[in-house]
Amino acid sequence: MGGRPHSAPKGTEGILDRDGQEIETAVEPDLYIQGGNPLHGDVRVEASKNAVLPILAATLLTPDPVCLPGVPWLHDVDTLCRVQRALGSEVRREGRDLVVQSVDVNPFGAPEHLVRRMRASFLIAGPLLARFGAARVPLPGGCAIGSRPIDLHLKGLIALGADVQAGNGYMEFRAPRLHGASIYLDFPSVGATENLLMAASVADGWTTIENAAQEPEVVDLANFLCSLGAEVRGAGTAELRIHGVSRLHGAEYQVISDRIEAGTYLVATAATGGDVTVGPVLPEHLKPLLAKLREAGSEIELSGDAVRLRQRGRLQPIDVKTLPHPGFPTDLQAPLMAALSMAQGTSVITETVFENRFMHVPELRRMGADIKIEGRTAMVTGVSHLTGANLHASDLRAAAALVIAALAAEGKSTIADAYHLDRGYADLEEKFAQLGADIERRASCSEAL
Ligand code: EPZ
Repeated sequence: MGGRPHSAPKGTEGILDRDGQEIETAVEPDLYIQGGNPLHGDVRVEASKNAVLPILAATLLTPDPVCLPGVPWLHDVDTLCRVQRALGSEVRREGRDLVVQSVDVNPFGAPEHLVRRMRASFLIAGPLLARFGAARVPLPGGCAIGSRPIDLHLKGLIALGADVQAGNGYMEFRAPRLHGASIYLDFPSVGATENLLMAASVADGWTTIENAAQEPEVVDLANFLCSLGAEVRGAGTAELRIHGVSRLHGAEYQVISDRIEAGTYLVATAATGGDVTVGPVLPEHLKPLLAKLREAGSEIELSGDAVRLRQRGRLQPIDVKTLPHPGFPTDLQAPLMAALSMAQGTSVITETVFENRFMHVPELRRMGADIKIEGRTAMVTGVSHLTGANLHASDLRAAAALVIAALAAEGKSTIADAYHLDRGYADLEEKFAQLGADIERRASCSEAL
């Protein structure tokens, strides 16, 4: 027994351990926000976390060096870099560039504690199996937002010729040579599409993946694979056709910008009644969000690779249903709900992609939000204002929602477990402070990597 001893906050009676040491009775907040400042100015959008991760995994497919310029420092990127170093890849930073070369790779060397920390690490399975004929990958397990099964990944790899054995928390794959196949995905899973796309790129013959994911990050992975010499057609549609090649070569590749980061700052601007320009970003990647924000009364201006949002007055209520792309992105459901909790009426938000992605709701209620949940649907009745509170983050996008709510609320908020933000947002406090927010991080509780 015995947690991290620290001086418990005033007024909370600490529980003493056997040595009389006070043990943790409350998680110390590490993010402090004084709400009420409308956001103004410009904010730079980084390369997309959800494109960098599969592309990083895909570098395992070639022994040649690959350079990815301008990759942000994100915990999830750092975790996958550590996984690939453990496999034997050479991964190094040259300024903001990430340079990777995978020559002497042990396809059985993925460390369990890292794969379990970040489930996207499972994306190494397809490339390792395709290039080395075998792989042993720890099962990623679930996370806060859902059970996160991998049945569609396995079904596709088996169709490509893999023998799959599960045991001791690992998945073992063997296939002397993968062969083309016709695969139908029961659900357009992003990760399954990416794993199978990577495996098929060096399999013998043609592979089709039907009901494939169409997210921009999947398209970016396909474009990256083509820059290595792969033959992929139909990226961005529901049917991918891949003609396997015998070997892939190195490349330098600029990853697309992060539509979810960009969307987060736009929603924060709408919530605080501000005027912010985000970029660089591909506006068509933000179409579903921009359509809903316009419907809610935000003024939006597109110019080249920049998107400007001005918010005058309260948001109008809207109905939102998250769907695979080109539907509304599930990753922006929590941030948008935070903004709509102050709208001039009742919004209905339905989460169809993950089974447990309303973890931010109890925390928003602590700020005065009026939200009723019925199954996968949340009825959000807007209130005139939220009030600051002590909050706990549960996952990356729920944490972003709490930041948005705190920036718009009256009074001070604290957010504990803010390390979740570091998984997917680079320099978040600095960027919001530059836009006029009163935000600072004190004790860093970020997980030791
Ligand atoms: C990717 O996760 C993203 N992560 C997620 O972003 C994003 O929310 C999600 O796609 C949906 O867009 C990365 O790209 C690293 P899925 P992924 O496979 O690939 C079910 C963030 O915040 N499913 O499309 O895991 C699954 O249970 C993260 O940046 C199966 O049933 O998403 C879920 O309900 C969170 N069997 C649904 O599909 C499978 O084999 C969507 O999962 C695989 C998935």
